[in-house]
Amino acid sequence: MSTSKYRTIFEAKPGELEELKNKAKQDSWQPIYHIYPEYGLMNDPNGLIQLNGEYHVFYQWYPYGAIHGMKHWAHVKSKDLVNWERLPVAIAPTEKYESHGAYSGGAVVKDGKGLLYYTGNVKYEDGSRTANQCMAILHEDGTVEKYSQNPVVEGVPVGYTGHVRDPKVWKENDMYYMLLGAQRENETGTLIVYESTDALDWRFKGEVKTKLPDFGYMWECPDYFKLDGKDVFVFSPQGIQAEGHNFHNIYNVIYAVGTFNLDDLTFDMEYYREIDKGFDFYAPQTFEDEQGRRLMFSWIGNPDVEYPSDQYGWAHALTLPRELSLEGTELVQKPVSELTKLRDDAVHFRGRLTDEEVIIDEATNNAYEIDMSFTNIEASQVGFQLFNSKEETLTLVFDHEKEEVRVDRSHFKHQYATDYGVVRTEKWESASCVDVRIFVDKSILEVYINGGKTVFTSRIFPQKDSKSAVTVFAKGEANYQIAYYGLS
Ligand code: FRU
Repeated sequence: MSTSKYRTIFEAKPGELEELKNKAKQDSWQPIYHIYPEYGLMNDPNGLIQLNGEYHVFYQWYPYGAIHGMKHWAHVKSKDLVNWERLPVAIAPTEKYESHGAYSGGAVVKDGKGLLYYTGNVKYEDGSRTANQCMAILHEDGTVEKYSQNPVVEGVPVGYTGHVRDPKVWKENDMYYMLLGAQRENETGTLIVYESTDALDWRFKGEVKTKLPDFGYMWECPDYFKLDGKDVFVFSPQGIQAEGHNFHNIYNVIYAVGTFNLDDLTFDMEYYREIDKGFDFYAPQTFEDEQGRRLMFSWIGNPDVEYPSDQYGWAHALTLPRELSLEGTELVQKPVSELTKLRDDAVHFRGRLTDEEVIIDEATNNAYEIDMSFTNIEASQVGFQLFNSKEETLTLVFDHEKEEVRVDRSHFKHQYATDYGVVRTEKWESASCVDVRIFVDKSILEVYINGGKTVFTSRIFPQKDSKSAVTVFAKGEANYQIAYYGLS
């Protein structure tokens, strides 16, 4: 029996999975209301789809510990985007065409079934690789079956390296389109498109002509959708240099807004921006639900980074589902309204701040939401301290002088990825008011500013026995109004 990291779940030793489960359970950093793996490592959300009312989320999963190894598709489903049920592993890479993992991809509904597209990753001994695009069928009863004629696209087109992956499929004008992240032979990243009349038989159509011909060495996890009258691409470029407020993580994610011509694949881009300004955000994917909402989940994590919780043999989580809209060319992200179901009774605070004020001594189970606004700001800085104990604190500051908002996680004992900095910032046009929505879930922080126009998603690993107080502060004066909810 192979013990290498390229082992499927069917090759587990007796008792091995139970042991992994028990070890991960010991970790009080595991979240309460985010999607996370019971054990092993999760990364990208995959195959997002709503079928007959039920939401299905799949994700990249390596069972045997907190490393990137043989990737499977794990599966959870929900009726309400709040309560999730774990289902048996959906895709295990047992076939030759996927010998080194069932990599990421998206889903499309066809004839009442979900078609799940993924990349069969194949590596060779000399270090080279190829990619096959594959399909599986999500049946109405929630079971998943690989397509008998896999792969649906064998190998990569001429002009590209073996890095071609992460199919996103959609239907338009009676045709199906498959968008893939790719690396050109000159080692620059790009997007390519296949087309099909039946979603089974695919023909290479060409490369998307963007205005970013030399933007990193590989583009992963592409997405494309129409939103509020515009065309939007989302992808995760690798190899972009940090600059100003932007691109500080090892790899980053952008959205690009413009007009896409499907006939000649020209994308007339008007604007692009990093989607999320936090420390831990990568490989998001969107889908349209049965109400017509454009929803997004993302991996809260980064590749090639070790995390403090790795010692417990599990890693990472997915963001809360976010509803997307456009205001002009700005992408707005709002946690879906269903999430208010998680709330316990509200506790309200309001007043005029002149210094700092501890509003919560010890946050409920360290799983809570804050929905608040600062108004009449006459202060050089206003903000929060979260995960606040004697020794540690996370600061969120709106800084008038620097015209920026900052998340500072430098004051924690458990540090990681510090080569990429311990502070994240975004431009903030100083104003007399700002509203903020904060979700904390054990070791996860999601901050939505001004209705979701700026979002920071990050992991924080407070010391295990520490308190988690919440403090608001103003250097100067400001009014504040807060609703605090324990979440369970
Ligand atoms: C992005 C990614 C994808 C790939 C998958 C493998 O995080 O590298 O490009 O399909 O993860 O797990």
